[in-house]
Amino acid sequence: MKVYSGLAGIPVVKSSISYIDGQKGILEYRGIPIHELVENSNFLEVSYLLIFGKLPSKKEYKKFVDDIKESLFLDEAIINFLKDIPSDTHPMKVLQSIVPILATFDKNKDVLDEKHHYSAAVNLLGKVPTIIANWKRISEGNPPVYPDKSLSYAENFLFMLTNSLPDKKIADMFDKCLILHAEHTINVSTFTAIVVVSTLADFYSAVSSAVGSLSGRLHGGANERVFYMLNEIEDESKIEDFIREMLNKKERIMGFGHRIYKTYDPRAKIIKQFLNEISKIKGVSNLYKKALKFEEIGLKYLKEKHIYPNIDFFTAVFYNYLGIPPQFYTCIFAMARISGWIAHCKEYLKDNKLFRPTQIYDGGHNIHYVPFEKR
Ligand code: CMC
Repeated sequence: MKVYSGLAGIPVVKSSISYIDGQKGILEYRGIPIHELVENSNFLEVSYLLIFGKLPSKKEYKKFVDDIKESLFLDEAIINFLKDIPSDTHPMKVLQSIVPILATFDKNKDVLDEKHHYSAAVNLLGKVPTIIANWKRISEGNPPVYPDKSLSYAENFLFMLTNSLPDKKIADMFDKCLILHAEHTINVSTFTAIVVVSTLADFYSAVSSAVGSLSGRLHGGANERVFYMLNEIEDESKIEDFIREMLNKKERIMGFGHRIYKTYDPRAKIIKQFLNEISKIKGVSNLYKKALKFEEIGLKYLKEKHIYPNIDFFTAVFYNYLGIPPQFYTCIFAMARISGWIAHCKEYLKDNKLFRPTQIYDGGHNIHYVPFEKR
């Protein structure tokens, strides 16, 4: 018997939600190329597509968006809870701990009932951005900004986060970042979500566990680390030495590499274009300049191993342009990935099988207990 370390290359589900060709750099949601969705759609419409398997009719879209807007608001009990959390708690920990409590306010408790799938989707898509934005304000000692239903999904989030109305063009690019984060086949956090839901735990528990899984630096936590890495480098002239030193120490360069993509990450390509656009609006930042140089030199060393920048490399720079503190970057990834997690949980439950892999035991047998004094 062989151990499949990290389950690399082992199919664990059949899924029709998304598709990646890691050699060609193709990503599709429900068969639609990602660049087409970024050009023509918006995050909530894409969420509908992922969760319900088709593009919504006008009526379905309106109901979905209206329901999400209705659920943007948090119960005061949650806001009071946020006020009691130590202000230096990492936002991903806050998110992971608040998400399961949202189940209390959902009357559709049965995970096998489609009504639970709909209300969990609507509640999580509505309330998670508010939790993140409120936590930013509260942790900085400011009162939370309440949601504004008249704004678009992305505008409202940026408004609640910064207490100022965002530029429409920038909010639109941010919305497209959410599309790019929304789904990515059976990655580790999605796998976590379906493992949890396979026990028939509800979608809130599945999403909370997935948030924990996403927070690690080999997965979604990479974007925050990209910021620290680039920020640590004094100026462009130090980049080559920095990269060489990291590689000599066999350290991972954050925001580079991917288990599936062995070519340029198509999501990173699109965010790189957004950076070009935002730099025209806000000016060329030092971080952006460093990132471009870092990419050029990084590729010189890593391209031959098929290691390219991934989505997290460029979103770190994009979110910095929006004035978002680095510890919130992974939360943005999480708030978008809710759609993918829910889509997979819903799909998995159609033919649920409790996950229970096996192991190869390599410990001893018949070993006897030894009292303290004889150890
Ligand atoms: N920097 C330096 N070397 C790397 C990197 C990197 N970022 N990624 C892979 N390698 C090397 C690794 O050292 C190994 O070299 P060798 O064969 O000489 O020992 C080789 O490439 C294969 O490594 P692996 O761990 O088997 O590859 P993997 O497919 O498991 O790695 C990864 C995928 C994402 C864990 C890895 O690329 C990594 O640690 N990247 C940095 C963290 C990061 O940016 N994560 C975000 C991924 S994209 C967003 C998401 O979906 O989560």
